[in-house]
Amino acid sequence: MEKQILALQIAHILGEEYPRDWVQQQIETPKQSSHGDLAFPCFPLAKTLKKSPHLIAEEVSSQLKHPIFKDVQTVGGYINIFLDQGFVAEHTLNQFYQDPEAFGAHEFGKGKTIVLDMSAPNIAKPFSMGHLRSTVIGNALSNLAQKCGYETVKINYIGDYGTQFGKLLAAYLKWGQEESLKQNPIQELTRVYVKFHHASKEDPSFIDEGREWFKKLEDNDEEAIALWKWFKAVSLEEFEKIYNLLSITFDLTRGEAYYNDKMDTTIDMLQEKGLLEKSDGAQVVRLDEEELPPCLIQKSNGTTIYATRDITAAIDRKQTYNFDEALYVVGHEQTLHFQQIKHVLKKADFAWADQLKHISFGMMLQDGKKMSTRQGKTVLLEQVLQEAISQAANNIKEKNPQLKNAEEVAEQVGVGAVIFHDLKHDRRNDVEFSLEDMLTFEGHTAPYLQYTYARTVSLLEKGNFDPNNPVTDVQTASAWPLIKTIRLFPEVIEKAYQEYDPSKLAKHLLDVARHFNKFYALTKVVGSAEEQALLSLIYAVNYQLKDGLSILGIQAPENM
Ligand code: ARG
Repeated sequence: MEKQILALQIAHILGEEYPRDWVQQQIETPKQSSHGDLAFPCFPLAKTLKKSPHLIAEEVSSQLKHPIFKDVQTVGGYINIFLDQGFVAEHTLNQFYQDPEAFGAHEFGKGKTIVLDMSAPNIAKPFSMGHLRSTVIGNALSNLAQKCGYETVKINYIGDYGTQFGKLLAAYLKWGQEESLKQNPIQELTRVYVKFHHASKEDPSFIDEGREWFKKLEDNDEEAIALWKWFKAVSLEEFEKIYNLLSITFDLTRGEAYYNDKMDTTIDMLQEKGLLEKSDGAQVVRLDEEELPPCLIQKSNGTTIYATRDITAAIDRKQTYNFDEALYVVGHEQTLHFQQIKHVLKKADFAWADQLKHISFGMMLQDGKKMSTRQGKTVLLEQVLQEAISQAANNIKEKNPQLKNAEEVAEQVGVGAVIFHDLKHDRRNDVEFSLEDMLTFEGHTAPYLQYTYARTVSLLEKGNFDPNNPVTDVQTASAWPLIKTIRLFPEVIEKAYQEYDPSKLAKHLLDVARHFNKFYALTKVVGSAEEQALLSLIYAVNYQLKDGLSILGIQAPENM
């Protein structure tokens, strides 16, 4: 609010040439409190106004007036604004208590639908770190979108089709063991697949065999289909364990194979629009004008590929959900693929192709190298999560041996730690995986936030706080940085969604926790003259931490 007021006044003083939006973008939040709460640099104005920044600052500041501005100072070419703390505190808390759930929520997404393509692991293969990133980033974006008023549809587009399944069928029929598959499906399927891969290097006839089995799959051969369905079912069961641990659900789980019998329509459509061209016997759509390589639509042997399925799926999703945006939360390495899909759809005159957005992300690294969850090489993701949980359990045993529901809390802390470690980084960057870093109570971690949350819970209990009777005019000076921080929540939510960047929210929550802990170290709350007002503030902090964590997909135990 104060930014808007300031921008409005400055724009008014400067005249038409400087629109409010531009002015608002220039406003800074000084790092040092001696420079005020807001600052406006006058340097960019000097040239056009033909005056020194210092003089402009003097002239403009003398005209700024509002009850919320307690003091206006000029330093060099800056105008520094000091806000009236009592006024802002009261305004913030009144706003919060009016409707705690709505604080931070927006309406700009009302009536609009966002489809998220997320998680999307491949059957018969281990759930990878990349799929974990897609799952947690997609989930956070969906929650952020909902907080902004959008309807969301989370789709898990399972990788269940492709020529590799011909090889897998051939491999399983040669070496597969039913018992092992029942006990540990992904492990057994990976074992035979890897064996097949090595064998075919020695003896190329294996390749032909794989091809034959893929052909059978394409031709709906009973045996091939039955096995493939079985592989799919057991794989999904395994993935479900991970989703349960993460407490993440989907609105639709649908494999790529669903589109197999719908792709002729896509190919016909592209043909009719004159977009298909022959290239070495294959059918492609050329994308020269976009300076992209041609998009392969149909191979020379008649089989279709990943891209064709994605194009078909996009058209189907548009028809089904009439989305306003379709977000594909998939790693960097598929950037070209999604550019091609978008431009093929554009060439086919689907104006909504611009609503497709590839939300890409970096890799998970271990010791600087791409982290692999492949069998034999390193750990499986489920084991990673279990390890995080058991380390969290150890921490709890040490710090709070009396804790009643220790097991449940350990799960919330361990899993929360893994999720937060991912989301606190800008998604485009690579992330170094370190259980130790994730789990400390002191660092920039979920356990730190959860621990801070639990502290607020016990304080509110101690003070017998009743949220139905808040006192909103906080005067205590040490509360000011905390009030200013929680006040930013609505702005943070909006930015985090608009930039598809959950790390903005993650960092904000760390700020809230840091300011709360500082405030609490400096301030006597229970038994102080301002007890009820301070507890009212702490309840707002408590609410925001829980709300924010839940948007990130992390639970907040009351005790830990
Ligand atoms: N299953 C694919 C993979 O693991 C990711 C699918 C992403 N979504 C999509 N619509 N292409 O590489």
